[in-house]
Amino acid sequence: MKSVFFSRFFILLPWALIVIIMIDIDSKKAIRAPGAGRTGKAQRAARTRAPGTGGPQNQTALPVIHAVTPTYTRPVQKAELTRLAQAFRQVPRFHWIVVEDSATRTELVARFLARCGVPYTHLNIFTPRRFKRTGMPRATEQRNVALTWLRQHRDKRDAGVVFFADDDNTYSLELFEEMRSTRGVSVWPVGFVGGRAYERPLVSGGKVVGWYTGWRPDRPFATDMAGFAVNLQVILANPRAQFKRRGSQPGMQESDFLKQITKVTELEPKANNCTQIFHQSIINK
Ligand SMILES: *[C@@H]1O[C@H](CO)[C@@H](O)[C@H](O)[C@H]1NC(C)=O
Ligand SMILES: *[C@@H]1O[C@H](CO)[C@@H](O)[C@H](O)[C@H]1NC(C)=O
Repeated sequence: MKSVFFSRFFILLPWALIVIIMIDIDSKKAIRAPGAGRTGKAQRAARTRAPGTGGPQNQTALPVIHAVTPTYTRPVQKAELTRLAQAFRQVPRFHWIVVEDSATRTELVARFLARCGVPYTHLNIFTPRRFKRTGMPRATEQRNVALTWLRQHRDKRDAGVVFFADDDNTYSLELFEEMRSTRGVSVWPVGFVGGRAYERPLVSGGKVVGWYTGWRPDRPFATDMAGFAVNLQVILANPRAQFKRRGSQPGMQESDFLKQITKVTELEPKANNCTQIFHQSIINK
């Protein structure tokens, strides 16, 4: 009985080995097949294209996102700018306008920007000392200098979006693809702001109808500085629109600026009708 089993085993063994070898050769061929090569290329294309745009496309046709970042000298400045640059570097068609609150452009920021890998413009303006008191709006002059630069260096032919990206916030890459389609003024929720876990525009039927916020919901536009984006052509078509010091109370800058260029009923809700949070503000007002 035992010898019958062994003779059958030894007859079948070579055949089993042949089958195993054939399967192995087959799977190696499949890896090198031209079909597999195409998958590799498609994967590479997917990696280089804009996140969230849904398919390969001609990136030079995308509107340029202009992010305005006021900044000032302090121990954590370079760390904050590094965090921003690491996100911005991954966004296609992006231009970073960094405005220092200083009498001259500092060497630290100049050197940082030259190596940051993001296309940029480096500006500066010193905030007059009388405005540097607690309770006063901050970075007003810096944002206005950036608006002036845009009006001088961009024109009707330039497709773009303008966004105010303070250096103490954290931005998800999805946010940039959301704001890129801004036709007038777009808005979205912001995390950790106004003393709440988040603030958001209240949307009904695809329109903004109010604001969920922990601080002065009676503001016409109760949004954070980085909770909105403006089409570049809206900035150019309203040459006098700017951030105000005179008559503006702290925390009213966003609202006072938006009043000059849009109406609440015209706002474009982004981030899935303002139900998703792509941007987090770490400071509380
Ligand atoms: C991409 O679009 C720009 C502007 O629309 C055009 O000038 C350029 O030739 C296009 N490039 C390709 C590769 O299609
Ligand atoms: C937003 O809401 C409107 C109206 O309810 C709807 O038509 C639209 O598809 C929604 N948009 C998104 C992105 O969910």
